Amino acid sequence: MKSFKVFLLVGLLIGAMGIMSMAATFSIYDWWTAGGEAQAIATVLNMYHQAYPDVTIVQNPVAGGAGVNMQAVIKSLIFAGVPPTTFQVHAGWEMYQYASANLLQPITNLWQSEGWTNVFPQRIQQLCSYNGQFYAVPMDVHRANMVWYNKAIFDKLGLTMPTTIQGFINMLPKIKAAGYTPIALGDSANWTTAMLFEETLLAVAGPDKYNQYFEGKITASDPAVQQTIQYFKTELQYVNPNHASLTWDQACGLLVNGQAAMTIMGDWANGYFMAAGWKPNVDYGGVAVPGTEGIYNLVVDSFPIPVGAPDVQTGYDWLKLIATVPAQAAFNQIKGSIPARIDVPTTGFNPIQVANMEALKKDVLTASAVHGSEAPVAFVTDWENALTVIQYHPDMSLQACVNLLNMTAQQDNLAGTVASANVNY
Ligand code: BGC
Repeated sequence: MKSFKVFLLVGLLIGAMGIMSMAATFSIYDWWTAGGEAQAIATVLNMYHQAYPDVTIVQNPVAGGAGVNMQAVIKSLIFAGVPPTTFQVHAGWEMYQYASANLLQPITNLWQSEGWTNVFPQRIQQLCSYNGQFYAVPMDVHRANMVWYNKAIFDKLGLTMPTTIQGFINMLPKIKAAGYTPIALGDSANWTTAMLFEETLLAVAGPDKYNQYFEGKITASDPAVQQTIQYFKTELQYVNPNHASLTWDQACGLLVNGQAAMTIMGDWANGYFMAAGWKPNVDYGGVAVPGTEGIYNLVVDSFPIPVGAPDVQTGYDWLKLIATVPAQAAFNQIKGSIPARIDVPTTGFNPIQVANMEALKKDVLTASAVHGSEAPVAFVTDWENALTVIQYHPDMSLQACVNLLNMTAQQDNLAGTVASANVNY
């Protein structure tokens, strides 16, 4: 009788363990809360649920474009030793900061066994790896250097998008005189203002100098950077007066409601416009920022597995899912971006996305500093704040602006940090 009871107890325990292991939890942090992006992540989480119905999904969306709020939350969780199973992170320097501190699990074996080195472009592989190991899987490829425009306003004013940054600047007074905001800006968080500078720099300086600037090899004293500062100051005279109280998506909303003619924003704006019911190339257009045709300024959202991640298998299953053709297609069609995989058919993507899929194959690739890929995070934060100082002091002389930007790079030891990092360019 006693042995029967023991047998029963062991059986119950094994059964309970089975139930416990079935009830795994997958916890994920992201900052996709605006129109388009929220639907995109919901779609892939639903695919995950279909594939793993027994896993409890705990999604933790933290509002704040470019991850301005979520990144602080994640840092605290990781430093406190209670990381989630996975989290959204920009491939490149934003990811390197964790990898270099041994806070992420190397996933090189997974990359090899899944054959991902054959399907993701080389530059994206570099951004997902640090010191010879892979640490993240890319979910999308966004393009930072895009300008979006309201077609009805362009048609009414007889405008076509210029091909040079000087042509773009020349067009701004005409739009303003007609009673529209030339450039919609929502800089309640200052990364959007920094994008104006970054994409203008790319247009003025070209890809090589752009890279050199963010590697600390040239300074703001360079004529191309000085010219960028001047264009940047001019652009800021043509934004909506309430820019400081709006988010990036609310600024896009100014195009939809017919108040603004253009906005410079990554192609998550494409997802926003689609979600708002706008038709690409009918209601709105989206092309490379004038002067940056032939250059693709990458923004890559990726997912890593932190050291100490709970229910780690659920994380590996997530990485495997998001790398598949169906998941990359479903997510990016809604998100406005394009797949990081090069073998996803164009079916189901809008014409602006199809054009970008073609461009990615032939363009010169650069990476966005604002969106965590191209430059060390501490420098980018200080640099964005310096640009905000310039924004709110329009009377600052060109030399004073140059000095401020140079001081920022020096204090953060930009050149030294980049030179000593185990990073591939
Ligand atoms: C991310 C995009 C996101 C955008 C707005 C960017 O930093 O890479 O995925 O849609 O921020 O939040």
